[in-house]
Amino acid sequence: MQSDLSSKLHVGIIMDGNGRWATRRRLSRLRGHEAGVEAIRRIVEAAPKQGVGTLTLYAFSSDNWRRPKAEVSALMALLRFYLASEVESLVKNGVRLTVIGRRDRLPAGIADAIGRAEQSTADGAVLHLRIAVDYSARDAILKAAALAAGMGDLTREGFSRLVTGEPFLRDVDLVIRTSGEQRLSDFMLWESAYAELHFTQRMWPEFQAEDLAEALASFHRRERRFGGLQPELQEMVGEMEMSV
Ligand code: FPP
Repeated sequence: MQSDLSSKLHVGIIMDGNGRWATRRRLSRLRGHEAGVEAIRRIVEAAPKQGVGTLTLYAFSSDNWRRPKAEVSALMALLRFYLASEVESLVKNGVRLTVIGRRDRLPAGIADAIGRAEQSTADGAVLHLRIAVDYSARDAILKAAALAAGMGDLTREGFSRLVTGEPFLRDVDLVIRTSGEQRLSDFMLWESAYAELHFTQRMWPEFQAEDLAEALASFHRRERRFGGLQPELQEMVGEMEMSV
């Protein structure tokens, strides 16, 4: 099932700008996060139609615990609400949900709700939706390194399994960050080794299916060389080497 999805694109999104979107409208930051959930719904619906098989959304970083307590509680409440209200439609639409990041620091009940949502959606074969909560890529890499110690020779693929917790997860093809910021902020650092980056001024609550399409169109115009040469150049250099 997952191997079918792995032939399609893996897109990661750093959903930034909820607070600014709300403040500019004289709304509370919570309203911004609520509007962010609406954007998640739109993009989860649009992604499979645009060739995306895996979508990883950065909802709460391990550094976000530094935010005011009220905002952290509001974000956790939204996550709980999302899990409760969305599972039915995720199942209906063939979306498999997994949550990545630490679970031991989440409020009581949320870790269980996550487990239940993951179980209910486990058969989804249209889209693998991964939501990063209490997530830090550096911590995920550190944890994998600790597991790897004593495992002997390890391949990149083997280490990826330890980092991602998935038997096979396609490397990230495209990372999108909204709101004009141009940072990775500790998001999927291992998985994004060759990812293309797309930064847009759009605030996350206003991000639409068309914005995803535009990011993907720009991605498809790029040439990905993975450290090699352009195919024409590769051929030319090969011929030169043959003639010496
Ligand atoms: C960044 O905006 C956004 C976040 C820190 C949280 C993203 C959360 C959601 C989209 C909603 C909750 C998610 C789920 C899965 C229920 P910001 O607050 O940093 O915006 P700012 O930089 O403008 O202040």
